[in-house]
Amino acid sequence: MRIGEAPDKSLLDPIETASRDEITALQTRRLAATLRRTYECVPAIRAKFDAQGVHPDDFRGLADLVRFPLTAKADLRANYPFGLLAVPRDQLARVHASSGTTGQPTVVGYTRNDLEMWAGVVARTIRAAGGRPGMMAHIAYGYGLFTGGLGYHYGAERLGCTVVPISGGMTERQVQLICDFKPDILTATPSYALCLVDEFRAQGRDPRRSSLKLGSFGAEPWTAAMRDELEDAFDIDALDSYGLSEVIGPGVAGECVETKDGLHIWEDHFYPEIIDPKTGAVKPDGEFGELVFTSLTKEAMPVIRYRTGDLTRLLPGTARSMRRMEKVSGRSDDMMIVRGVNVFPTQIEELVLRVPALSGHYQIVLSREARLDQLEVQVEARSSSELDEARAHGASELAHEIKSRIGVSALVTVLAPAEIERSAGKARRVIDKRPKA
Ligand code: DLL
Repeated sequence: MRIGEAPDKSLLDPIETASRDEITALQTRRLAATLRRTYECVPAIRAKFDAQGVHPDDFRGLADLVRFPLTAKADLRANYPFGLLAVPRDQLARVHASSGTTGQPTVVGYTRNDLEMWAGVVARTIRAAGGRPGMMAHIAYGYGLFTGGLGYHYGAERLGCTVVPISGGMTERQVQLICDFKPDILTATPSYALCLVDEFRAQGRDPRRSSLKLGSFGAEPWTAAMRDELEDAFDIDALDSYGLSEVIGPGVAGECVETKDGLHIWEDHFYPEIIDPKTGAVKPDGEFGELVFTSLTKEAMPVIRYRTGDLTRLLPGTARSMRRMEKVSGRSDDMMIVRGVNVFPTQIEELVLRVPALSGHYQIVLSREARLDQLEVQVEARSSSELDEARAHGASELAHEIKSRIGVSALVTVLAPAEIERSAGKARRVIDKRPKA
């Protein structure tokens, strides 16, 4: 059952409805202080400023930020584990880390004040999605070094929710507890939320009749088609939530239930820019490129012009005065180049969900035969009874759509339900078996 209502204005943080002038003044003050503190306290960043010949005194207004150096994941790796801290290690209240699938893990640290700020921005994200004090929140993001579980946990508590800290996995039990405890809010990756839908049905229960009213979904790219799928399956409002560990975790940006038109960036704490990923040049609002953030209030590990690798564009505020980012279309390193055509997994997802006999679970396998790239899309029939139909018509329909809309030939393999690998966290969409260059 959906609610879909804007929160009462009195529940919002005053800055959420402040004028652009007020927001700009606050950002300018906070940016100046962040640049100065980072320069003074983090030798590795000071060295980058010095190498580029800029000093915090050169910052007089937002337009000056472009003069300062960009930072990237490589800077975190080079200073592993604690080299980018702006406070002594004993001032850290917590650390989180990314799994480091490609090399060294990256570690981030938080002071007590950082944890307070973080809980505040996640509470804001859940409230924007339609959450209210007194609601029950089922937190199915993983707990541990990943920021999703604990980030949402303290945010939901801050908002005044009753928290069910179940974490990811044990899917059968999750469904049992949703039916027994009757939570209002589900927080999970969209791909795991889809696994919960399947488990409801496998247990002979109708997910539409669950108590859930809204989902705050993120941590991986997902499409408008997947939103429709999840909203329809659970009869909920499904809202996008964006963040990354290096910047704070979840709570960087969130969608508002009353507009569902992209994610409002909590610009009082995180200053966004869009750059050309090749040249690093800043692009005007409205143009696509790579999202970059400067933290405005973080104590333990401030980040200056951090390259997220995520591709999107900035749009003006609507339900809140703060600017929006469009749904992330993918990460620059998720982009597949297949026979010279750029393809994002989200483009495939959009098309898979148009075929009625196919479910939203999919995986892309890239290989090379006779020096040509092969793109295989593995999909699942929605149900065993639809398998024959999916094989007879769904596969060719999807292959045709991929060819005509994306411009690449794909081999579509239809599997029985539950045959594609599931994850309790971020789904693995691409398996690249091509020999490394
Ligand atoms: O995924 C934090 C998070 C947890 C966000 C729970 C939302 C909900 P990391 O593990 O550091 O942090 O991964 C960050 O995940 O750079 C994006 O590529 C991707 N990502 C996160 N949210 C979204 C989203 C968490 N809503 C990386 N849409 C980011 C698309 C997202 N991609």
